[in-house]
Amino acid sequence: MSGLFIVFEGIDGSGKTGLCKRVHEALTAEGRTTIVTQEPTSDEIGSLIRKDGIPDITPAAEALLFTADRAVHTQRIARWLEEGVTVLCDRYFASTAAYQSAAAGRDPAFTEWLLQMNLPVIRMPDLTFLLDLDAEEGEERVNGRGAASRYEELAYQREVRKAYLDLAERFDFKIIAADRGRDEVLEEVLQLIRSVF
Ligand code: TMP
Repeated sequence: MSGLFIVFEGIDGSGKTGLCKRVHEALTAEGRTTIVTQEPTSDEIGSLIRKDGIPDITPAAEALLFTADRAVHTQRIARWLEEGVTVLCDRYFASTAAYQSAAAGRDPAFTEWLLQMNLPVIRMPDLTFLLDLDAEEGEERVNGRGAASRYEELAYQREVRKAYLDLAERFDFKIIAADRGRDEVLEEVLQLIRSVF
């Protein structure tokens, strides 16, 4: 039987990386073979975009790189799923559709291009969790309380959040309120996963 493909999305500081780890621990303890993976990957293309500062990069060029990384990663994900492994993926196509769309002012034609480029090279997840959080709170979690990031960065994360919420409606993501305690968030997510198994 094919494994479940579960994706975690959210703005910076939304807590998805820690949540992924805790879901992995919980499912493993229940006897399910589960793997955690993330994007950008640490493969050749992923490493290229993880490094800060490709000079003069544009949202379109970034989107092409993130998507190329994803196209290669998807082959590996498909193999794990065929082996019956449940795959927990920290970011997937919605990250490009949200972040690069926000970087391009959420222009509808550009957003559509991002999706049309991604849909043929991805595997549609069985379940996508959107950890929804206020940009201010995400910023505090990233920088530590009190330390403000640049105004543009905060405005950007707000736009990313809006883009995510649009995608959630279109692709039926499960919106999880991330402004709660870790245990509460974990329990809600585990219940939703168990209802799909
Ligand atoms: P991380 O903080 O989850 O490791 O992700 C690294 C950064 O890369 C984060 O700010 C989001 C960004 N990103 C995109 O802009 N587009 C993408 O397609 C992906 C996968 C990540």
